[in-house]
Amino acid sequence: MKPRNVRLILKGEIEFMPVYDLLQWLEANRKTGILNITWTETSKTFYFQDGEIIFVSSQKRGQRFGEFLVSAGHLTKEELRAALEGSAIEGICFTEYLLKNNVFSPDTLRDMLSRLAQQILIELFSSTQGSFSFYTPLPEIVKNGPVRLCTGHLIFESVRKVDELKRDNDRDTDTIGWLRETLSKEDFRLPPLPDTISRLQRIISDERSTFRDATKILMSDQIITTRILKIANSPFYAGAGKIDSLHAAIARIGMKELMNIVTAVKLKDMIVSPSQKERIQAVLDDAILTAFLSKNLAEQCGEDPEEAFLGGLLHDLGKTVILNLIGENIIDDDQLEKLLDENHADIGALIARKWHFPDSIQEMILYHHNYQEAGDTKKIVALIQFSDGIIFKGVDNGLDEEIMNYLNLNRDKVTSLCQETADAFKYLKNA
Ligand SMILES: [Fe+2]
Ligand SMILES: [Fe+2]
Repeated sequence: MKPRNVRLILKGEIEFMPVYDLLQWLEANRKTGILNITWTETSKTFYFQDGEIIFVSSQKRGQRFGEFLVSAGHLTKEELRAALEGSAIEGICFTEYLLKNNVFSPDTLRDMLSRLAQQILIELFSSTQGSFSFYTPLPEIVKNGPVRLCTGHLIFESVRKVDELKRDNDRDTDTIGWLRETLSKEDFRLPPLPDTISRLQRIISDERSTFRDATKILMSDQIITTRILKIANSPFYAGAGKIDSLHAAIARIGMKELMNIVTAVKLKDMIVSPSQKERIQAVLDDAILTAFLSKNLAEQCGEDPEEAFLGGLLHDLGKTVILNLIGENIIDDDQLEKLLDENHADIGALIARKWHFPDSIQEMILYHHNYQEAGDTKKIVALIQFSDGIIFKGVDNGLDEEIMNYLNLNRDKVTSLCQETADAFKYLKNA
């Protein structure tokens, strides 16, 4: 669409003549010609006829009208190619070709061009950089095109959307700011350790206590009792004969393991925010998977399996707490990810400290993305980081070769343990 005998009418910097004023001036003076705006390496072009916009185009990917129609699902790539070729052969403009061949109704075509123009204007309105030129004549092929958009109306709609976006942005920034501050000052109520866990903790650390004491604590909790019986009778603890008393179940699975199961079940109580329910559930599911894998791998590399299980279970505890804190507030997904990435390890370790979990668990939580920084617990922390990576991205993409070598693990063994983990998870989910 390059015109011949170009005559420059107006030229300048956006800094001195904002796009908004420029468009109004072209409309008020019923100008005909081409407005080109160069901005951050790409340029945007508006075709004006008598002050109205008859076509827009942009060098930015996805902002050419044809591409825009494809991405909005109005045309397939093949239909676009055929229409571009057809319009070139017939020597008519692309929009005219679409109407002539009944690909679109005039209203739809108008609506789509208006949407693209708004998208481009929204980008332009939010920038104070760039330069512009307005020149004539309009190429013959574009002149008297089938669509005409009211410039004033487009400006109005685009400015309204820019304001809307800005408001959303401000609100997001407010919430994020508040969360950052709250987290950095540790200015929030820490969730209490579920009562059953703290009572069990006391029993485990007291050498005089027996299975019977643990049984007494758990007996009143119907959900936990059922779970423990199911797990004690599961293929993982295939002992001789079926067990139907809680006491015998605890004797079979052992106190430490019991503690792990109770913690896994009780972590569910941490979902207090209904609007974050799904997100928190996903974190908890990943935690249980990481726990199983860590436990299985620990057996391979001489670490304590029970401790590895608990570390895996709690490694992302901070995420659960932060998500609950966000509650009903709405935050943009990218911002939320960033906030979680930056804070979950510290916050998780803080809670583990308050809950009196051993130092090794606190370190696993604090350094699970950075095992090199851990002290004496480096090996088991590396193990948690290794499992977490695999659970997060799968064994093909998430396996860290360096840690695998450090832990002296073998790839085939890791792969088969991943399968066992997935099976164990399915079992526990349904238990
Ligand atoms: Fe994490
Ligand atoms: Fe994780």
